[in-house]
Amino acid sequence: MASVSADLHYWTRRAAIAGINGLHALAPPLRNYTRVVFHMDTVFWLCAAHGYPMERPRILDPFAGAGINMSHSYLDRVSEAHLCDIDQDAARLAGKLDPKVTSIHGDSFRMINEGDDRLGLYDMIVLDNNLGGIYHGFCEHFDAMPAVFRYFDPKSEHAVLALNFITDPEMMNADPRFNTPSFEDQMAERAAFYGTASRRITPAIGASAYDRQARKQGWKVVGHALAPRAEFFGFLLLFLERETAAA
Ligand SMILES: C[S@@+](CC[C@H](N)C(=O)[O-])C[C@H]1O[C@@H](n2cnc3c(N)ncnc32)[C@H](O)[C@@H]1O
Repeated sequence: MASVSADLHYWTRRAAIAGINGLHALAPPLRNYTRVVFHMDTVFWLCAAHGYPMERPRILDPFAGAGINMSHSYLDRVSEAHLCDIDQDAARLAGKLDPKVTSIHGDSFRMINEGDDRLGLYDMIVLDNNLGGIYHGFCEHFDAMPAVFRYFDPKSEHAVLALNFITDPEMMNADPRFNTPSFEDQMAERAAFYGTASRRITPAIGASAYDRQARKQGWKVVGHALAPRAEFFGFLLLFLERETAAA
């Protein structure tokens, strides 16, 4: 049964977003002043600045919720977007965001690893997964590796993976919004994935761990950038090229 509170939350956010956009349309100087309207803007700017402009990309967003926090803000830049979520209400509401959205309900880790035929090929993939702790046995986005690289179109002019990257997990865990009882388990999984016991890790260490994963699927990470979201995490942008030595 549909949740009334999910709908209420969704339409309240939609009204707020429409209000912000309306204000900017009515008062252009205001828009000029607030250069970054939504933080996804910086993701697109950094891609362009690093030589990977995303022009009308096809996007896969496997942890999209109803899309009203982040995903809605890139829709005017894309040619199509596949928004997935395990929560049925969230997936239903995401489908109402824009005609360019195809919403897909299901467990995205399963879809990615098992090759769900509702998924396609993309220019950009955004992993906005839950950040802290271990949920239903999943830690961050590690279970999407390396299969997620299969969903980049080898013919794409530019391919970019954007994922939630925690630079300082101790600081994150000290924030009541992210504090988690499974923190030590998460740290053990991170140490194994990133190949270091250091808790604070740099984007460069992250990029080399993702490069090891990418190469298993015929891609390589040729550059990276961090689009900040908070003091302790950001979107790590991984600029990808085909690894010609791979099959
Ligand atoms: C940080 S929120 C995403 C917010 C979203 N990007 C937005 O713009 O509002 C993470 C989302 O991942 C979803 N999620 C968690 N585990 C999942 C899974 N295994 N498969 C699909 N979605 C999942 C949650 O339901 C939640 O909506």
